Amino acid sequence: IKTTDGLDVAGKRVLVRADLNVPVEDGAVADATRIERVLPTIEALRKAGAKVVLMSHFGRPKGERSPETSLKPVAAKLTELLGTDVLFLDDCIGPEVEAGIASLKDGDVVLLENLRYHAGETKNDIGFAKQLAALGDIYVDDAFSCAHRAHASVEAIARLMPAYAGMAMMAEIDALSAALEYPKRPVMAVVGGAKVSTKIEVLTNLAQRMDMIVVGGGMANTFLFADGIDVGKSLCEPDFADTVKEITEKAKASGCEIVLPVDVVVANSLAEDVETSVCGVDEIPADALALDQGPKSVDLLIEKLEGAHTVLWNGPLGAFEIAPFGAATFALATEAGARTKAGKLISVAGGGDTVRALNMAGAADNFTYISTAGGAFLEWLAGEQLPGVAVLADGATPPQSAVA
Ligand code: 3PG
Repeated sequence: IKTTDGLDVAGKRVLVRADLNVPVEDGAVADATRIERVLPTIEALRKAGAKVVLMSHFGRPKGERSPETSLKPVAAKLTELLGTDVLFLDDCIGPEVEAGIASLKDGDVVLLENLRYHAGETKNDIGFAKQLAALGDIYVDDAFSCAHRAHASVEAIARLMPAYAGMAMMAEIDALSAALEYPKRPVMAVVGGAKVSTKIEVLTNLAQRMDMIVVGGGMANTFLFADGIDVGKSLCEPDFADTVKEITEKAKASGCEIVLPVDVVVANSLAEDVETSVCGVDEIPADALALDQGPKSVDLLIEKLEGAHTVLWNGPLGAFEIAPFGAATFALATEAGARTKAGKLISVAGGGDTVRALNMAGAADNFTYISTAGGAFLEWLAGEQLPGVAVLADGATPPQSAVA
């Protein structure tokens, strides 16, 4: 991977692809984590005398403009965080954008409007990529969380001009590679979420590489069902029972233990403060839903965690957003955070829900690394090649002189 280390950017226009797709509420940025992650790259470029041109997508506007999908509130937040005025241009290509960029002085920062207002972005259209490339001399990709998208501002553009990985991109790649490729063993993966069907590749890949997989959320019900257990009205995908059996076989063959709940918290509906009870997994009432793992399962998970040196976490164990179904997730998060703080564990987590759950447990700050990526984190866990990373690799298509 080519990085910006030692690169001469003085007086150059540097196009930075960031992921500024952040939660916005009432016209203001509600969580600035992704913006904060890209600040070191912006600051280093400014200090080195570059003209910084920031570009990002926001939401999924399908080519249409609307105030809800404008990046304008992000420009205000950037101005506040950088302590310098960030110019906002209300398009990302065209003569007015070119004029805006031409007016920049060294060290200035400009943010372009949502890339997805142009259909060429998601189509990885080379013509659109050329229009973007014409706005800069150097391209820096600092958006790991978009690296699974073969989109024009991520993939095609990197073939058109000198392309480098920014600091946040490198930090993600380094942390995630260390945890998955050369983990300190035993390594435990915690994979939760509602459906097995959305995580087959992830589970299959992990079954061959991990020492233990803790299955959580609705997915655990499908695993229990595949074991012949009646899960009542719980979320379950019976059609995937055979897939689950294959995954379990693969895990066994490579010495990976699959850890399932032994008891669960059940209720008749998923609602705030409903009446709940705890039962063994083989005693789930026919009209009940399993919504969290029970205390015996938590004890088991904590015991397993004590034997692990690395934990890799994507997806909650239960319906954590609704009280009291977050208890198992919060207990494991707290323990993983405490063991990490004590120097006994390397802990890496990613995905919007997971990070939210860790924050709710007050454990996120204790984790070794929290990825800002959702979809990209999952695809990376599944062992897939991410187009946005592959294109930056040494030996990828060299810059062409196609940008007239
Ligand atoms: C994300 O939020 O995971 C990234 O910004 C990618 O967004 P997308 O799923 O709309 O491509």
